[in-house]
Amino acid sequence: MEVGWRLAADQWGHGYATEGARAALDYAFGKLDFPEIVSFTSTINVRSWRVMERLGMRRDPNGDFEHPDVPEGHPLRPHVLYRIRREDWT
Ligand SMILES: CC(C)(COP(=O)(O)OP(=O)(O)OC[C@H]1O[C@@H](n2cnc3c(N)ncnc32)[C@H](O)[C@@H]1OP(=O)(O)O)[C@@H](O)C(=O)NCCC(=O)NCCS
Repeated sequence: MEVGWRLAADQWGHGYATEGARAALDYAFGKLDFPEIVSFTSTINVRSWRVMERLGMRRDPNGDFEHPDVPEGHPLRPHVLYRIRREDWT
């Protein structure tokens, strides 16, 4: 199960993505009882990495992958994978 976010550019820099993701993770772990949530983003998308890290998610370097829907050689193709387990969610 993946958590993700996308905001209009004029709404960046206010904490809304992290706030929304926290609510989604509370629901996923508290109500739905999922054991683990992942998130992934293009390696160059540093703002998205920062949301994952603010949430306490940890990068899994073994999970790095080339996104199959992005053409080979495209700068958005390489992706990083982050994970968080229910017992690590506070
Ligand atoms: C990824 C994306 C959602 C991140 O947005 P963001 O605004 O950087 O993230 P947040 O909403 O969590 O905001 C955090 C920023 O708000 C700032 N902020 C300001 N007021 C704040 C407040 N009251 N509370 C919390 N943070 C606040 C934080 O300091 C932080 O800024 P910084 O990164 O410069 O340190 C956004 O860049 C985006 O939509 N990108 C395009 C789509 C995309 O790439 N999605 C991911 C695909 S996998």
